Parts: sequence; C-alpha cells; structure tokens
Amino acid sequence: MLKAARERVSRLPNVMILEGDARQDIPEGSFDMIFLGGLCMYLNDLDVMALLHSLKSRLVEGGSIILRESTLHQGVFLSRGEYQAVYRSVDLYRQLFNGAGCFRVEVRRNYGYTNLVTAEELVNLRRRWLPFLSRDSTTLGSLTWWALRGTAPISFWTLPRILSQFSIPWPKLQNHFFRLRLVE
Ligand SMILES: C[S@@+](CC[C@H](N)C(=O)[O-])C[C@H]1O[C@@H](n2cnc3c(N)ncnc32)[C@H](O)[C@@H]1O
Repeated sequence: MLKAARERVSRLPNVMILEGDARQDIPEGSFDMIFLGGLCMYLNDLDVMALLHSLKSRLVEGGSIILRESTLHQGVFLSRGEYQAVYRSVDLYRQLFNGAGCFRVEVRRNYGYTNLVTAEELVNLRRRWLPFLSRDSTTLGSLTWWALRGTAPISFWTLPRILSQFSIPWPKLQNHFFRLRLVE
C-alpha cells in the first residue's frame, strides 16, 4: 500500500507519505484537516482518547479532525482471533470524543458502506439458508451485487433509510463519518 501510495503521489509536491504507529509517530506541525480512515476501530478506548487529545493540539483555528469508522447500532463488539477490531456505536464514539476534549461533533452515516455490507449479509443469508448452492460462487456473488445495483433506488437508497427510521438493526454493521471541530 505504501509503495502504491508513494507512486500515486510522486508528482504532488505537498504530499508526504509516512509509515508509523499513529499512537506515537504523529508528525510535527499544525494541520487544517486530519483524516483518520478506519483507524480507531483498531485502538482501545484509552488509545483513541489519547490520540484525539494529541491531534487536537495540532489543529489550526477552525481546523477539523474527520474520522470514518465502522459502527454498530448500539453497544460494542470485540472481534477476536485472526481479525481483531472494536466495533462501537455512535454513542460510544461520542463518549470517547468527550473524553478527549471539547469538540463540536457532526455525524454523518456512510451509506456507500451500507451498500457493501447489505450485499455481504445477503450472501451470508444465502449460504445459511441455501447450503446446497456453492458457498464461494463468484457467479452467485455477482448476481447478488447486480440485482442490488439494478434496484439501487430501492435496495441502496430507500430500504436502508426506512430500516434506520424504524430502528431496525440491519445490516448489523454500519459506517459513519465524524467531524470534530474545536469549540471556540
Ligand atoms: C480499515 S483500514 C483503513 C485504510 C484506509 N485508511 C481507509 O480509510 O480506507 C485500517 C488501517 O489502519 C492501520 N492501522 C491499524 N492500527 C494502526 C496504528 N496503531 N497506527 C497506524 N495505522 C494503524 C491498518 O494497518 C490499516 O491499514
């Protein structure tokens, strides 16, 4: 990924690719905008608060930290084993932001991600209820995806919003953008 990123930005003089652990290798300087893409879901609560607290001091006046994180409808779920992650609800993220300092928080659902997990959950349902079909058929996977895309105004737009309106927790996994701004 780093190699690909370096190649992609090689002609952009104002971009620098750094490799490190976000908990300790934050570069010096002050920033207008700091984006954390799917990072906090790999950090425990204390590390998230410590990271946001230290990033807060790097923001210029009027600057923002933007996070994109996989979320749950409520509570927290720890994925253990080979793939480890922490899935938190939006409310739990708000509590962490409060613990890290005074931020004005805006939250926006990432519906693009919902499209992806809707397809994933449908494939899992098919595997469970129609076990005689090939588990890993790329043809069936493509059919699911194209059926969803073909009915996108309903499947990708109306359905997730209606389910959300009625607080129906499906698909289980969500994704949200959080914009944190300093309180003046
Ligand atoms: C879900 S991916 C997101 C990738 C990309 N940022 C995006 O928005 O699509 C999470 C990334 O966070 C990285 N990561 C996990 N823990 C980290 C840490 N302590 N410091 C820096 N990066 C970390 C992982 O290696 C992985 O590349």
